[in-house]
This record gives sequence, C-alpha cells and structure tokens, in this order.
Amino acid sequence: MTRTQVGIVGAGPAGLVLAHLLAQAGVESVVLERQSRAYIEKRVRAGLLEHGTVRLLKERGLGERMLERSLAHHGTELRFDGQRHRIPYSDLYGGREMRVYAQQELVADLVRLRLAAGGEIVFEAENVELEGIDSEAPLIRYRRGGEAAELRCDFIAGCDGFHGVSRPSIPEGVLTIYNDRLPFGWVGILAAVPPSTTEIIYALHERGFAGHMLRTADVSRFYLQCDPDDDIANWPDDRIWYELRTRLATNDGWTLGEGPIIEKNITEMRSFLVSPMRHGRLYLAGDAAHIVPPTGAKGMNLAIHDAGVLAGAVASWYAGEGDGLLAGYSDTCLRRAWRVQEFSSWMSWMLHRLPEDTPNRAYREQLQRARLEYVTSSPAAGASFAENYVGIEF
Ligand code: APR
Repeated sequence: MTRTQVGIVGAGPAGLVLAHLLAQAGVESVVLERQSRAYIEKRVRAGLLEHGTVRLLKERGLGERMLERSLAHHGTELRFDGQRHRIPYSDLYGGREMRVYAQQELVADLVRLRLAAGGEIVFEAENVELEGIDSEAPLIRYRRGGEAAELRCDFIAGCDGFHGVSRPSIPEGVLTIYNDRLPFGWVGILAAVPPSTTEIIYALHERGFAGHMLRTADVSRFYLQCDPDDDIANWPDDRIWYELRTRLATNDGWTLGEGPIIEKNITEMRSFLVSPMRHGRLYLAGDAAHIVPPTGAKGMNLAIHDAGVLAGAVASWYAGEGDGLLAGYSDTCLRRAWRVQEFSSWMSWMLHRLPEDTPNRAYREQLQRARLEYVTSSPAAGASFAENYVGIEF
C-alpha cells in the first residue's frame, strides 16, 4: 500500500497540470494513467490555447517549450457566401492573444517536467477502482504489470476524461446530468501540408461546415461537417479534398494546398455536464465532468482551468485555511463551464448546415445568416465573440 495526499486518475491536461500545481504548493500526488507514456504523447486532440491557459502555463514554469514552438495568434476568419471576414480578436479583447500548440505536445512537456521534478506517474495502471470516496481516507485500487496495487489518499482527483472510471464511481442519484447531442459530426484530418492560411478559418457552405485549423509549419488540421453516424470508410482522400476545396472556396481566388492525409476520423458533437463536480473526497476535473462540442476549441482550456481551481482549493485546505475553497470548487468551475457550454453551442449552431429535418429550417437558416453577418460586421458583436473565444476573464 502506498500513501499520498492526492491520488490523480488520468494523465491528460487536467491531471498533469493539477499534479504540477499541487507540487508547487507542497502537496504530494501520484498520477495513475491507463495508457502508456508513448500513447498519450502521440494522441491527436485539440490545439488552441486560450490567453488564460498560456498565462497559467507561463507563470508556473510549464510553458517554456510551448512558447518556443508555438505562434501567437491575433485573429480568426469566418467565411460564408465565398466572402472572408476577419475577426481581430486580440484588438477586440484588450490585446490578449491565443497560441496554437497541439495537446499531445503539451502533454509530453508536462510529463517530462513532472518526471524531471521527481513526480510519480504510473503508466499502464489497469483496472482502476475508487473506494471510500465518502470517507476521509479514500482508496484507489489498480493493477500494474499484473500485480494488485493500492493507493491511499486524502483526496482523489478524477481527471480521467469522459470515458473514465471516476464519474461512474459516484453513487447514482447524486449528480444531475445535462446532455445534448448536436446533429452534426466532424471528419477530422491531419495532412502533411503547410497551412494555406496564417489564421484559423471557419467556413459555412451549403454543403456544410469546413474548418482549416493549424498545427505546425508542415502539418495542417482540417474538419468537415458530416452526419454524426457517418463512417470514415465513406470518406476517401479524394472526397475529403474535393469537399475542403469546395467548402473553403472564396470569390477572391484563395487556393488550398493539398498533401498526404496522415490521419482521419469522425468525431461526434456532444455537450455534457454534471453537477456538482464532486462527491465526498472525489473531485472531477476536465472532460470527466464536462464535454463541449469542439467548435470553439474549449475542452483542453476548461480542463486546465478546473485543474487550477482545484489545486488552489486543495492547497488552501492543507495550509489550514479550512474547506471554503473546496466547498466552492464545483460552483466556481461550473460558472465557467456553463459560459463555455453556451458559447460552444452558439458557435456550433451558427457554423453548421442544419439537417433536412430541422423544424422551420428555412427560417432558422436565415437566423444563422443574420448571426454571421452581425458577428462579422458589428464591433460590439465581434467583441463579444472575441472575449469568449480568447477566453473570458471573470
Ligand atoms: N484509469 C486511468 N486512466 C484513465 C482511465 C482509467 N480508468 N480512463 C481514462 N484514463 C486516462 C486517459 O487515458 C487520458 O490520458 O485519463 C486521461 C484523460 O485525459 P483527457 O481525455 O485528455 O481529459 P482532460 O485531461 O480532462 O482534458 C480534456 O481532452 O478530450 C480532450 O479535447 C478534450 O482537450 C480536451 C481535453
């Protein structure tokens, strides 16, 4: 049996940032991760860091490589009717900038720094089970290399994503679950081709949404709206490039660079949130507690925000300041999580072709258009978009 102060389940952005911030506050933790180190350092996910995320990583000494290898971004482009509309979000939100940096790169940095600082991350921890989360000394049982192991802790942080074991360990009836499945899916691809843009592009075309995201100087990420139940086998490379060319086309002759597709998959668009984000001594953070549709690229940022709040609350408890911050953890995080839910949903509905069976579809399409015109032409609407996109500070 090992003992630690905080047992952290999951080495994603939430779990790893939490482990770092706790260590900096003098609180011990052990991270248990189901996958191997190589696997989590290769897993392709999000890649857009909000202003507040960059600041936190920088201030805590976790962002050196990210700052070296990422570019600052100051605007984004919305395309519809073949027209390009730039939203200069930095100018509209007090000069704050965003950064493009792949999630798996950040995960690799956080792992390397944590191990270098003597932190413990158990990779390939199997069959994790949580016990006694209602008690003052919860226990995590797991298997490592076929051997049974136990970790006794004061607190458990459930940072194990949407499909993890933490949330389902909370007794039935405790959590209120909010759920919405959007009628859109995304074909996501990574292509070995330099980007054809310097800023992220979101396009609405009559054939559906298309997004041109950024990764590195040689690799680009693209998304195409598809049916959420579609199969990736229906999307040969030629079809993907045809749809990207068509949906991203502009009236001013912009061209799309094409290259080999390295990876492709289909993502569904889901909104999900549980309240409260805790039970007993178990605290949920990140995707374990909430999922937003990927349109606003908020998932990783929200996960890191939760980790920051949780680390502060736990550190305050160990500093003898009582459990005020722990008691407020869920409300503090949910306030931001709901703001992000609303923004991600609003942005998703603005940018996707509505399914044929949408009630009053023609009317709703006109609302969509009115929204797009407003956000791209009114400085007030642009500023509202900007503060949410860059990461609202409240
Ligand atoms: N036991 C141990 N580890 C687990 C278990 C389990 N039963 N289940 C899942 N995990 C691990 C996963 O392998 C993963 O490494 O927990 C980690 C959870 O990480 P993420 O899914 O990245 O979640 P989070 O840290 O909340 O970050 C949210 O991830 O899904 C993306 O786009 C989303 O960017 C967002 C970010």
